[in-house]
This record gives sequence, structure tokens and C-alpha cells, in this order.
Amino acid sequence: MGKIKVAIAGLGNCASALIQGRYYYEDADPNEIVPGLMHVKFGPYHISDLEFVGAFEVNKLKIGKKISDAIWQPPNVVKKFADVPPIDAYVYPGPISDGVAPHMRKSFRCYDPEEIKPVDVADTLKEIGADVLVNFLPVGSEEGSRIYAQGALDASVAFANGIPTFIVSDPEGVWPKKFEEKGIPIAGDDIKSQLGATILHRTLVKLALDRGIELDETYQLNIGGNTDFENMKYEERLKTKRVSKTQAVTSLLPYDIPTRIGPSDYVPFLRDKKICYLWLKGRKFGDQPVTIEAKLSVEDSPNSAGVMIDVIRALKIALDRKIAGPLISMSAYAFKHPPKQFPDFEARQMVEEFIQGKRER
Ligand SMILES: NC(=O)c1ccc[n+]([C@@H]2O[C@H](COP(=O)([O-])OP(=O)(O)OC[C@H]3O[C@@H](n4cnc5c(N)ncnc54)[C@H](O)[C@@H]3O)[C@@H](O)[C@H]2O)c1
Repeated sequence: MGKIKVAIAGLGNCASALIQGRYYYEDADPNEIVPGLMHVKFGPYHISDLEFVGAFEVNKLKIGKKISDAIWQPPNVVKKFADVPPIDAYVYPGPISDGVAPHMRKSFRCYDPEEIKPVDVADTLKEIGADVLVNFLPVGSEEGSRIYAQGALDASVAFANGIPTFIVSDPEGVWPKKFEEKGIPIAGDDIKSQLGATILHRTLVKLALDRGIELDETYQLNIGGNTDFENMKYEERLKTKRVSKTQAVTSLLPYDIPTRIGPSDYVPFLRDKKICYLWLKGRKFGDQPVTIEAKLSVEDSPNSAGVMIDVIRALKIALDRKIAGPLISMSAYAFKHPPKQFPDFEARQMVEEFIQGKRER
């Protein structure tokens, strides 16, 4: 079926993990269960079919470099887990828009617009021949994400929205309609990690409900030391992240309970480690109390990359099959804020049916 040409907006930690993963699993055997992967082959596509063709950035240390060099530039802190060979694809200056909050200008080594002019996103996507554009901009990039989504639309490139800007799940339905009319598939919003706070919280809520527990309250506090957490130090920057993470859990509950979920603090020395504290309190047989406390500790960025690697392949299958608009099954399985929520086991089943062609989207 050929290669999948991938472009990335925001060559930060998640992008580095995604690119490293492509090479880490290059020789993964499709006939074996490979630790770390949900699908060695996703339909006809092996992980090694991903070909990175370019990236958009605002970081002066990354712009102009090959993406295989740029992923090691600061402030990226993701651990090196794979050797990435030289890739003949470059980092282009992207429109800054609202991608860089005032407190992030220095950390992101943002270019001076007097010295560097941004490229046109659609023209560049066409030039580099991208099939799929992955959005890995910082949380709060409302306008910035829409610039890249519009670029993908104009260049007829599929769009994977890794961040909580509600494009695929647009409540007005404007963006899904635009992509549908253009004949281009999209998946989003806000990538759900492979084994992260959201899936663990959802699993515990589902378990409690299935066992007849009445839940009374729950919280999920998260801390980390990468620029994703530094960017979300201020409440106004993380509004949509809080909505996305909260709705991912409350959408499973048939009633309202006091809930507090979101990024909680930036702890620089944690670097790419993320720690999540979960709490659920409820009542069981005879109204007797039950509480669950859990702590999850993960390397943050590879956690999203392990899922995005499947999303990219789902979008390419949709392009091959000429399926347009939101991919309902993949979005429900792989994102926190999809157009339609489903329990995770059901979403996974739907994705397998999509791969087999038994379900259109
Ligand atoms: N497990 C996870 O890590 C996870 C899970 C869900 C969602 N996400 C989301 O994915 C996104 C990326 O996460 P990350 O850890 O890679 O963040 P990051 O801070 O490492 O990377 C963001 C990159 O975007 C660049 N950028 C800023 N404005 C830009 C613009 N206008 N154009 C192009 N590039 C721009 C920055 O220079 C930086 O390199 C975040 O929004 C994060 O919340 C991550």
C-alpha cells in the first residue's frame, strides 16, 4: 500500500517520541506480540511505513534543521530510546499565532518575527507531499490549531488533532463538515495516552459502576516537568484540557458527582515523568464505604506516541478508502474528547471492525 507521509506541527516531546518509536519498532514482527505496541500492523500498514516529511516549529534551534537533528534540541526532554538515522526532511517556521503563551517565549526559544517569516502551511504541506498532519501544539493554541487545520484542509491532507482544541469534536459541527465536504478524514481531539491517567481513571469508574458501586466523588491530580506542564501553569491556558480530561471520565457516569480533574503543577526536575494521583470514593452493599487511591507514574511523551502511531495509520486507511470527516471509532478509542464517547472496550472493538472494513468510520 506504500508509505504514509507524515508532517508534524509542534516538534516537541511527543513528536520526538513518535519519530523515535518509528525506528525503535522498525523490524517488529507482525506475527508476534510486541511489547509496547497495540498493533504491529494496522490493516496493511506496518510502523515502518511511516515516513516523516517535515515539521512546523517556532523554536529557533529547531527551524532549518533536519527533523532527525531537531528532535534532540532543547527544551525537548523526552528520553532517547532509539537511534534515529538522518531523515531528509526539514523543520519549517510555522505561524506563531497563540501557540506561544507569554510565559513560554523563552522556554520555546521562539523566533523573532522581524527576523524569520513563517511559511504558508498549505503550500508547504503540498510541497513535501504530506498525507497526514499531526497537531502537537501546546495546550491553549486555539487559533494556532485552526491555522494548521485550515492548512491541512486547503492542501487536502488528513488531520490528527493531538491537543484539546475542539476541532473534530467541534460543538457547532463546522470543522467536521468542512473536512467532509473536502473528502478528507480527521481524528481527534486530545490524544488519550496508551496507559495514562484518563484510561486508568475511566477503567476504575467503569469497574465501580459494573460492580454496583455508587460513586460519591473523584479527583485526578497530575504533575510533570516537561514544557507541556510548564505551558499549563496558568489556568487560562488549560481550560480546554480540563474540559477534555474531565468529560472523558464524567461521560461514563450516569449521574453528577463532585469531580476535580486536570494538570495540577509543574515540577521541573521531573522532566518527562508524569505522576498522577487518583481518588474515588463511593458506597457498596449496605451503603458501606469504599475508596480507591492510585498513583500512576509514566514517561509522558512516549505514552501519547504509542497511540498516535495507530491514529496515523487509521487516517491513511481512510484516505485509501476515500472516507471523509471524523473517524468515529478511532477518535473514541484514541482521544479524550472525541465527537462521540464510547466505553473503551467497545471503541477498541469498533476500531478492529474499521480495520477489517466492516465499519465505514
Ligand atoms: N502524553 C502526552 O504527552 C500527551 C497526551 C495528550 C495530549 N498531549 C498534548 O500534545 C501536545 C504536545 O505535547 P508535547 O509534550 O510534545 O509538548 P511540547 O511542549 O514538548 O511541544 C510543543 C511544541 O510546539 C511548538 N510550538 C509552539 N507554538 C507553535 C506554533 N505556532 N507552530 C509550530 N510549533 C509550535 C513548541 O516549540 C514545542 O516544540 C500538547 O498540547 C499536549 O497537551 C500530550
